[in-house]
Amino acid sequence: MTADPNAEPAAPVDARPLVVLTDVNKHFGELHVLRDINLTVHSGEVVVVIGPSGSGKSTLCRTVNRLEPIDNGTITIDGQPLPEEGRGLARLRSDVGMVFQSFNLFSHKTVLENVTLGPVKVRKVNKSEAHETAIRLLERVGIADQADKYPAQLSGGQQQRVAIARALAMNPKVIMFDEPTSALDPEMVQEVLDVMTSLAREGMTMIVVTHEMGFARRAADRVVFMADGRIVEENTPDEFFTNPASERARDFLSKILTH
Ligand SMILES: Nc1ncnc2c1ncn2[C@@H]1O[C@H](COP(=O)(O)OP(=O)(O)OP(=O)(O)O)[C@@H](O)[C@H]1O
Ligand SMILES: [Mg+2]
Repeated sequence: MTADPNAEPAAPVDARPLVVLTDVNKHFGELHVLRDINLTVHSGEVVVVIGPSGSGKSTLCRTVNRLEPIDNGTITIDGQPLPEEGRGLARLRSDVGMVFQSFNLFSHKTVLENVTLGPVKVRKVNKSEAHETAIRLLERVGIADQADKYPAQLSGGQQQRVAIARALAMNPKVIMFDEPTSALDPEMVQEVLDVMTSLAREGMTMIVVTHEMGFARRAADRVVFMADGRIVEENTPDEFFTNPASERARDFLSKILTH
């Protein structure tokens, strides 16, 4: 896949709400980690979530495919409320791709097996079709030549690109990225961001927690700023970075932009 950071944005965002959180609250014991969260992400939209450590960004991501249950409020994916358990939950989880900081690949399976496993087991795709799709996706993220290796034989950037291919293989409606480049050596950050940027341009719906402000400016339709479990402000990247409305956001930006 070739990523051109200067390419025109993809097709206009259509108006279909894909991920909708309404009045979502969550506690860990006494700690109120998500406070009255209201967030709508439309099909084709790229939302970057930023905010200080501990503000609830990862928890927010994890609630969207119910890795974390919520206390109250509602979450819908493409109009369907999150099922609590069972087959409905498995189906929903396969609609919501996840890419974590720590890759989470199966270490005893090859790159190719990592990418075909979900489609075969969960989506019931036949093996040869899953194989073809996996090769195509590995080409798309630029690592088809590594298909028969094991994760430990790859660089961090390559492993993260496998994780992205694996998420794409499920044909998800939305992909959540939780600090996908934070564990990478600096020289590998860009190759992963390039893959993400071209996914964004191609119209993939994405929710991305990241400290990569260049990516946010280039690829995000909207920046959501969280602090202390709340969405403090949300705006276009241009507005947010040049003219943050809240003191909290100004303070945060001054710290990350000058460190
Ligand atoms: N499983 C858990 N049990 C108890 N507390 C938790 C749990 N997971 C997270 N927390 C707490 O909830 C708060 C929000 O955590 P979360 O990981 O969502 O923050 P974050 O914004 O992703 O931070 P970071 O930028 O450091 O990744 C933190 O105070 C954290 O310590
Ligand atoms: Mg986090």
